[in-house]
Amino acid sequence: MSVKRVTFASKIGVVAAAAGSAVGLGNIWRFPSQTADGGGAIFILVYIGCILFFGIPLMVSEFLVGRASRANAAGAYHKLSPGTPWKWVGRLGVLTGFVIMGFYMVVCGWTLVYLIQSLSGHLSGVTDFAANFAVLQGDPVKQTVWMILFTLLTTFFILSGVKKGIEQSAKILMPLLFLLLIVLAVRAVTLDGALPGINFLLKPDLSHVKSTLFLDAMGQAFFSLSLGMGCMITYGSYFRDRTPLLKTSVQVAVLDTLVAVLAGMVIFPSAFALTAHPETIVSDLVAGGPGLLFITLPELFNQMPGSMIWSTLFFCLLALAALTSTISLMEVVTVYIHEEYHIPRRISALFVTAGIIILGVFSSLSAPFFNILDIASAKFMLPIGGLFISLFVGWHLDRRLIFVQLSSGGTLKPGILFMKTYIFLLRYVAPIAILAIFIYGLAW
Ligand code: PHE
Repeated sequence: MSVKRVTFASKIGVVAAAAGSAVGLGNIWRFPSQTADGGGAIFILVYIGCILFFGIPLMVSEFLVGRASRANAAGAYHKLSPGTPWKWVGRLGVLTGFVIMGFYMVVCGWTLVYLIQSLSGHLSGVTDFAANFAVLQGDPVKQTVWMILFTLLTTFFILSGVKKGIEQSAKILMPLLFLLLIVLAVRAVTLDGALPGINFLLKPDLSHVKSTLFLDAMGQAFFSLSLGMGCMITYGSYFRDRTPLLKTSVQVAVLDTLVAVLAGMVIFPSAFALTAHPETIVSDLVAGGPGLLFITLPELFNQMPGSMIWSTLFFCLLALAALTSTISLMEVVTVYIHEEYHIPRRISALFVTAGIIILGVFSSLSAPFFNILDIASAKFMLPIGGLFISLFVGWHLDRRLIFVQLSSGGTLKPGILFMKTYIFLLRYVAPIAILAIFIYGLAW
């Protein structure tokens, strides 16, 4: 392939870019609503199990496949296993990226709307936040306009190049968002009446368990870690030869989980403390669905002095966290079209942009369409992609190649026990767990 590939410039840039992809609306918007739906602490426990048993091993695997091939998500399989159908796994990943963007960009648009509402002072004057969100949901034109704006913003970064665009933005903004979430969590847990919310998060209550608990938690783990669609393959292809894959994966997974749990620590104590109907709060949370973040948080800001500043800062950082995720999503599809069909990067980015906007319009117009894209990608397409990548690395890929990648150009010495555990997780644990969860989740 004649295309010259860039690599990430600095060590911190590598972790920041991968963490920037992982940390996004998945943590702050989707995680709390899934946790509410899944019964609180019990959902979080299963979720953390998914991160440990297949999240981290699969992230190492995606990085490894990307760096060994230095190619896009589909080209990677093609290069490592020429002439086999494995490249279809990569293609499925590219399609998944597309499907995710089709609804994700709509939520990104909501963050912009809330940013403007914060800046203009509108949000501090609202008394019924559920109604405020319902007005936005009932206005497809507004949603479409902001969705398109966000998509174009992402395109702008994609066109400005991998290093400058992705790395710089992620490095500065992630730590800021993290700090802000800590401040908000402290405010939330010290509200009067926050205790039941903290309990909901930390004390498993088996009476809320749903039959799809495992499927939901697994889907959320894949979604939040940006796994199963080749996003981390694409980023791994930009890694330097010496980047330690396991360490990077653990760092990303820990950061991602911390941000999600922190977001929970902000949302649930606030929701319980600020509700007018404590008796029905759990069912209200479930019914709140995708709106949870956009209803509860502004309510919390209104309890704080200088609410306008807090909410502006928060929605600004949230939009930026979302942007580093949409950049990674768009990058996967763009570089695939660019490398596989030899179309200039610029033109392929424009194709992708047009496609996203078409899907995004349908998602803005129809909540069921939005939900179908969400469920299809997170609960089905990503885990299927994850299943195949674990089979590919565990059963198909040459052990020496795996060893070379894990030793990062000879700078590390992965021990026998480590290698054996890693391969065992990929060969048996991850695929069997994913399949079992599918069968169990679908049998109901
Ligand atoms: N992980 C991102 C988030 O949590 C979403 C995402 C999924 C990004 C898949 C890239 C690939 O918001």
